[in-house]
Amino acid sequence: MKVTLFICLIITFIFFCSSKTTTTGTINWWCTQTPYNQTCNHYVAEGKNSTATVSINQFLDITVNAAEEEARVVLKRAQGIEATYPNPPEKTLWHSCVDDFDEAVFTLNMVLDHTHQPSPDDILTWISDSVTDVDMCEEEFENMNITTTMLPALTTNLTQLLLNSLAISVAINGGNPPGLNEMEV
Ligand SMILES: *[C@@H]1O[C@H](CO)[C@@H](O)[C@H](O)[C@H]1NC(C)=O
Ligand SMILES: *[C@@H]1O[C@H](CO)[C@@H](O)[C@H](O)[C@H]1NC(C)=O
Ligand SMILES: *[C@@H]1O[C@H](CO)[C@@H](O)[C@H](O)[C@H]1NC(C)=O
Ligand SMILES: *[C@@H]1O[C@H](CO)[C@@H](O)[C@H](O)[C@H]1NC(C)=O
Repeated sequence: MKVTLFICLIITFIFFCSSKTTTTGTINWWCTQTPYNQTCNHYVAEGKNSTATVSINQFLDITVNAAEEEARVVLKRAQGIEATYPNPPEKTLWHSCVDDFDEAVFTLNMVLDHTHQPSPDDILTWISDSVTDVDMCEEEFENMNITTTMLPALTTNLTQLLLNSLAISVAINGGNPPGLNEMEV
């Protein structure tokens, strides 16, 4: 996961540094600029008017919105899984994950709420916080030496949507990721 994050940031520089923040493009075109192009197409472009021209800021909102919706789906499923376990450690771990996903949903909604006009820097911090929330759930399992195939199946696409959001947000911040150290890459 941390390796993925690192690779993503490298890719970010390659793809986004050439595109100015004033650039507009279709949602389909923006998707080709993201680290996880296929996941972008699946969640962001499909079913939308993907020939409409949007700015990078609009594309970030669309992507974060898709991530927020997926985070709510993942949260619901994790609650279902938690309910199937009567005892610790599994029940405890899934309960922590439910809390982590809940936190991610909350944080992503802060990005989507434009009431107080958050700075691009705040937005970058919140998106990287939500990546950390999802990562935390995986780490809790690792720390207990419990392997589960359910977790990757549940979180892979969410993580990819978040890393796409992060890449876009980094690009809006001029390709300079201030949160890099906090993310423990
Ligand atoms: C993005 O994904 C689509 C379909 O999944 C594919 O056709 C296209 O070649 C990909 N583009 C890039 C730049 O990877
Ligand atoms: C995850 O995303 C891929 C595209 O990257 C898609 O084909 C797949 O159906 C998605 N998985 C789920 C569970 O929605
Ligand atoms: C999609 O967006 C374009 C550009 O904004 C517009 O011309 C077109 O009518 C839209 N198509 C649909 C199906 O909404
Ligand atoms: C997990 O495994 C490591 C190495 O085998 C061990 O040091 C650690 O105590 C284990 N943790 C738990 C919670 O069992």
